[in-house]
Amino acid sequence: MQTIWLDPKDDSTVWIIDQRALPHQLMHEVLVTYQDAAHAIREMHVRGAPLIGATAAWGLYLAVRQYNPKQDFRSYLEDVIAVLQATRPTAVDLSYALKQASETIYQAPLQDRIEVAKEAAQRFARESAAQCRAIGVHGLPLIQAIAEKKKGEPVNILTHCNAGKLACLDYGTATAPIYLAHEHGIPVHVWVDETRPRNQGARLTAYELAEAGIPHTVIVDNLGGHLMQHGLVDIVFVGTDRTTRKGDVANKIGTYLKALAAHDNQVPFYVGLPTSTIDWSIEDGLREIPIEERGGEEVTHIYGWDDGQTRHVRLTPEKSPGLNYGFDVTPARLVSGLITERGVCEASEQGLLGLFPEETTD
Ligand code: MRU
Repeated sequence: MQTIWLDPKDDSTVWIIDQRALPHQLMHEVLVTYQDAAHAIREMHVRGAPLIGATAAWGLYLAVRQYNPKQDFRSYLEDVIAVLQATRPTAVDLSYALKQASETIYQAPLQDRIEVAKEAAQRFARESAAQCRAIGVHGLPLIQAIAEKKKGEPVNILTHCNAGKLACLDYGTATAPIYLAHEHGIPVHVWVDETRPRNQGARLTAYELAEAGIPHTVIVDNLGGHLMQHGLVDIVFVGTDRTTRKGDVANKIGTYLKALAAHDNQVPFYVGLPTSTIDWSIEDGLREIPIEERGGEEVTHIYGWDDGQTRHVRLTPEKSPGLNYGFDVTPARLVSGLITERGVCEASEQGLLGLFPEETTD
């Protein structure tokens, strides 16, 4: 399942899956301008930290194609970057991808810039997919160890939001160890948090797992604590949109509550993340991670599939407003470990620097 790709027959066209239509319809959407890419990220046709980064990198490629030589190239591209950057504030992959791609584009001779921008977007996608697979390889032993103790009983894994293939370029972050365990024949069962308000778990994670034939059950967001109290969750895997150098993680709203419940019930709580999701410039997640606030209508209304079409209906009384923060911060102390493409480490500066010594500062 590709989540974003260049049209093999037409270099001016990038394709995405419009994830708003899933799981009931698999709709593809074409992006031809960087404004299309910005719109797709802002309105969540694409979402999930690495995929947001990849879409921004492809947006930059489209922008280089749109460039009018009468403009100053650098200031044109800076404006484009500002537009793409402003689409969603929390996922740091966006700035990471834009920084990586723009640095190589600025260095290239004018006539090569389109090709260089294309290669930069392809490289981000390639590296991100490889990193997700490596996260799976490093996370797999955690599942294997539980499976050995359970002697053939399925390992019950809880996940929140969609940190799967649809959020990434392949494998996913939190789901990568699950996919690998399934490929290795280890019996797993996934508790899928529905993840209100946009229901990425109920719609997207459930869709992915169903397609892959991985046993799973969709649960309301409030059930996780009860399941943990009754020994029905062996391990929690979630993704992150931004991880500080001290190991705090911002992920979809509600992740913090799962971490608290996991801590109280001694259930291991692991976070899967590629390099692009680490923000080395900040330490304190609560104070320094910008938290996206979206429209209250995502809370007061809900989408559903009825009689062959998508319907959008109101849930709440007309006079009741909704408040909609997209993410929360889970402090490092509640995280059992970070699973990166380089291995598993403690959620701390020391742990992260052990895997990424090049980020050490004096
Ligand atoms: O608002 P979304 O759907 O973009 O949020 C996605 C998440 O919170 C994921 O868990 C996160 O991006 C990490 S995934 C690869």
